[in-house]
Amino acid sequence: MDWGLKNRISGIIKPQNNRALMLAVDHGYFLGPTEKLEDPKKVIAPLLKHCDSLMLTRGVQRACVPATTNTPMVLRVSGGSSIIGEDLSQEDITVSIEDAIRLNASALAMSIFVGSKYEYQTIANLGKLVNEAAKYGLPVLAVTAVGKELGKDARYLSLACRVAAEQGAHIVKTYYCDNFEKVVQSCPVPIIVAGGKKIPERDALQLTYNAIKGGAVGVDMGRNIWQSEHPVSMIKAVRAIVHGNQNVDQAFKLYKKLVSEEPKQKSNTQKKPFNPNQKKSNTQKKPFNPNQKKSNPPNQTKK
Ligand code: 5RP
Repeated sequence: MDWGLKNRISGIIKPQNNRALMLAVDHGYFLGPTEKLEDPKKVIAPLLKHCDSLMLTRGVQRACVPATTNTPMVLRVSGGSSIIGEDLSQEDITVSIEDAIRLNASALAMSIFVGSKYEYQTIANLGKLVNEAAKYGLPVLAVTAVGKELGKDARYLSLACRVAAEQGAHIVKTYYCDNFEKVVQSCPVPIIVAGGKKIPERDALQLTYNAIKGGAVGVDMGRNIWQSEHPVSMIKAVRAIVHGNQNVDQAFKLYKKLVSEEPKQKSNTQKKPFNPNQKKSNTQKKPFNPNQKKSNPPNQTKK
């Protein structure tokens, strides 16, 4: 393996333990301002130092991530559809290799939609992306996208992961499922697991644990971290499983301890937003005081 490629992959999958904790914040590329990711800058800032790598789009990277960070960037380079459009599987490569290099990407990520109307287009694009990326020692992460009409069982995910690996993807991102070991065994490259939609924290920790036990190198988790009421405590608990070899009970105990130590959020003591229609309380007529001198009425200049 070329030095550059090896070096980039080692920033994403840590060679000491062959594990990876990737934070996914790329959802806006088709979902727009999805719940609790409305302000990516605010979401990313406290979490950045707790993940091994960050998966995102170039727009969010440029606008929301300080260029001084040492955290590797896994750049999503596919897109073209939105949640309100006709077909989410109609994606193309939207970012050039030159721009990815300008952004100092550590890997390029794209989705393939196996079994969909645009299967051919997305799989062929993966092959082309691997060709281009290979010229610069850039690894490619293939996301096996699932949709309403696409399955999420071991049979389907094994097929999708294997197709991605055969096209030359260096890492494959997929979903956890029953018989997940089968998916891992039939995929010749490392598998990383997406978190999926928000579930209770303990369940997300269980998913992380199961995925690693089943052979995944780690998780590329988004919603189950930043949609949690306590994102920093949650990512630390996930990290305790991925890199600290903790079990679910230990990680959940840690999560609860960290939550209890978080500074309490101000509730009704917070400053209320400005309401132009609300009358000022001190504009109320004061009781007449015969000894008080007359002040200048507003808008009158003193002579
Ligand atoms: C969207 C993605 C996301 O990065 C992926 O789904 C991981 O995020 P989450 O844990 O929220 O599922 O690739 O297409």
